Amino acid sequence: MTTRGQVKAGTGESDTMKVKEFEGKNVYIVGGSSGIGLSTAELLSSRGSNVLIFARRKDRLESALERMEGRRKSGVQRLEYAQLDVTRHDEVEKVMGEAVRDFGPPDILINSAGRALPDYFENISFEQFDESMKLHAYGCWSTIKALLPYLEERHGYIVNVSSVVGFLGTFGYTDYSASKFAVMGLTESLRGELKPRKVGISILCPPDTDTPGFEMENRNKPPETAALGESAGLLQPEEVAGALIRGMEKGRFFIGPGSVRMIYLAKRFIPWLVNLVMDMEVRKVQKKA
Ligand SMILES: NC(=O)c1ccc[n+]([C@@H]2O[C@H](COP(=O)([O-])OP(=O)(O)OC[C@H]3O[C@@H](n4cnc5c(N)ncnc54)[C@H](OP(=O)(O)O)[C@@H]3O)[C@@H](O)[C@H]2O)c1
Repeated sequence: MTTRGQVKAGTGESDTMKVKEFEGKNVYIVGGSSGIGLSTAELLSSRGSNVLIFARRKDRLESALERMEGRRKSGVQRLEYAQLDVTRHDEVEKVMGEAVRDFGPPDILINSAGRALPDYFENISFEQFDESMKLHAYGCWSTIKALLPYLEERHGYIVNVSSVVGFLGTFGYTDYSASKFAVMGLTESLRGELKPRKVGISILCPPDTDTPGFEMENRNKPPETAALGESAGLLQPEEVAGALIRGMEKGRFFIGPGSVRMIYLAKRFIPWLVNLVMDMEVRKVQKKA
């Protein structure tokens, strides 16, 4: 028998648990006020979930909530926001504790908070590296630490958002890529621990996606980094959110929208060819400059 709010688990050929139904589920989305997180919040609002989004800026949270309201499926759904800086471990513990008490414990946790500030290694400060690690690696770790007992009780699901550069080290991303690889390591290690406990977990690795965050990323992007990104294509956040939802429904550990799955396989099985192609692309750009 399934209790209310429980995510039905199934194994089959999938490598993690499956989410069978989103209606009535409590979904926490960290980084839900913009881009991929917001598109996912809107999509889940239209599927009947109770959605609680977290981010730092109140004005962005309020306008995100308006967009979610416009997509709600029914009057009984709860759509809310809470302010949170996920780089602060103590704040995560406090805000998540309040969320569990006031909104209700989560069935699904999506960690989408993030940002990329690509540059040449020499131009990246220790502070930027430190912030990347805190935002991506520590951020995912802290929210999971705070919420796992509830997710386990409800046989829930976790999605950590990494990136193509979370499995493929790429020119210009020495801080961002390192922190997203850490997210991959955390998520892969947890997959094995959580499967027997019937908690699903996925890693989402989007390619370049047309979001406010991507717009900011492009402001100071080295031309070599831009050229490498273009080869994986540009997706819309709604497409990435759709892939994320389908990935959870299928119980896919690795969710690679667009051409990302192919890049992932290439990196795994023919890494020398991937490096050769990337080096050629970099040489081409540097010759032109
Ligand atoms: N767009 C891409 O091309 C792309 C590609 C691969 C991977 N990704 C990854 O996908 C995720 C979403 O990216 P996006 O492009 O959708 O970014 P976005 O539009 O800039 O949205 C980022 C979200 O994270 C929140 N956030 C940032 N720092 C935070 C913090 N310290 N604490 C809590 N919330 C914080 C932001 O709100 P506040 O700033 O108000 O806190 C916002 O809600 C990120 O993890 C990113 O690394 C993006």
